[in-house]
Amino acid sequence: MDVHNPNAAGAARCPMHDEAFAAAPEKVYDYLRAHGPAGPVELAPGVDATLVVEHETARRVLQNPGVFARDGRRWTMLAEGRIPLDSPVLPMMAYRPNCLFTDGAQHLRLRKAVTESLDKLNVTRIRRDVEPIAAYLIDQFSELGRADVINHYAKLLPMLLINKLFGCPAAIGDRVTTAMADMFDGRDAQRASEELSDCFLELVSLKRRSPAEDITSWLVQHPAGLSDEELKDQLVMLIGASVEPERNLIGNSLLLLLERGGDDGPSMQIEDALDHVLLNNPPIANYATHFPLQDVDLGGVLARANTPVVISFAGANSDPSLTEAGQAHSRSAHLAWGAGPHACPAKSLAQVIAVTAIEQLLNALPDITLSGSTAELQWRPGPFHRALVALPVEFSPTPATRTASAYRTTPARAAAQPTPLAPVPAPTATAGSAGGAGKGKKGFWSSFLEIFRV
Ligand code: HEM
Repeated sequence: MDVHNPNAAGAARCPMHDEAFAAAPEKVYDYLRAHGPAGPVELAPGVDATLVVEHETARRVLQNPGVFARDGRRWTMLAEGRIPLDSPVLPMMAYRPNCLFTDGAQHLRLRKAVTESLDKLNVTRIRRDVEPIAAYLIDQFSELGRADVINHYAKLLPMLLINKLFGCPAAIGDRVTTAMADMFDGRDAQRASEELSDCFLELVSLKRRSPAEDITSWLVQHPAGLSDEELKDQLVMLIGASVEPERNLIGNSLLLLLERGGDDGPSMQIEDALDHVLLNNPPIANYATHFPLQDVDLGGVLARANTPVVISFAGANSDPSLTEAGQAHSRSAHLAWGAGPHACPAKSLAQVIAVTAIEQLLNALPDITLSGSTAELQWRPGPFHRALVALPVEFSPTPATRTASAYRTTPARAAAQPTPLAPVPAPTATAGSAGGAGKGKKGFWSSFLEIFRV
């Protein structure tokens, strides 16, 4: 047996769930690519997959739905009860009736409803929604002179934004924020996912009665005529597809900007940082689980029918053949947004959100710098995301009401703001307090709504 060839019979699979992978995932991609376009990995204990690390092969799989299906009901080991039902990767891989896990006509119908609803959002609207949320979050820590911009900012902003884009009223939004935080942190994830489903069924029913200018209403009104259950499933999917990657795009780009910065702030343009991150440190590093309809030869590596074939967007982006072909700097060459029928329909939207969020932070705290050395930074374990655990920063303490009052002083906002400022909740160091709508206590979302009246 060739112990150095991962594709040799009996060779050990590369684990993608441990600290070693989180610390240096490129070692796994490079090692597998040295022996073939794909190789055997373990996504979680007891969950095996083939990881595609070569750019050309990744495109071939992504763009060939006639051979590589998305429907997880094909997964033989899961159907035979050989996958632990509490495996942390199951929610990301098992079938749900949403765009990500469906094929053919069913996928087309759901994707059309989702993309046409997302397309109603424009840059002006996104900026208008992101800016007050950013200001609100910055106010929570600006007087302290230090913060962890992952847990105090990049993690919370997409959660509050999705509430806004979905048109959640205070009571539903507080529950959605708490359930999202619990789900992403793995705190009783099953209960959190049930709570999210309940919230979205309520939200759908509300928007059927009183539609407004938000994603939920647009989905409800879409000519595809989605049922309440289908609407709920697309909303849950949209949370997974947007909140975690957005957080990582903001977090990884902030790291790069601050690393390249000096006393006068970052020396790189935000858009350039985003492009760099999408190529070199993509927020979704590995995903797009496919199930081959029959045994397939992936350039000498056999992918068995109905077993998971996962695309390494990070591995494909770092494939030396991209550099050799002179494509590494082309925006269309990297696979951070996926490719083929399931490619991300929200590229522009996602970038406007990240640029606005980062711009707001850098403008509010112009002398922001990293505190501590980047060598001490840690990455969250897990096979799919590329996500910092924390990103400590420091800056000159800035009065808390500065950013909030900037919103309140425009004539339109002042007119819509008859009540005095509500007290800002204590800094939310943990996602557990992101919702936290206990008895008689305001939740995070309702506190935000009360301050900005947006
Ligand atoms: C912030 C950075 C983001 C990145 C890097 C990203 C990346 C991706 C990738 C790689 C896929 C393909 C997954 C696959 O093939 O299985 C995808 C799909 C998708 N993304 Fe994004 N995404 C981002 C933000 C968003 C946002 C903000 C939204 C919506 C508000 C969104 C909505 C979707 C949807 C609906 C799909 C599924 C499309 C389908 O299956 O037909 N994404 N995204």
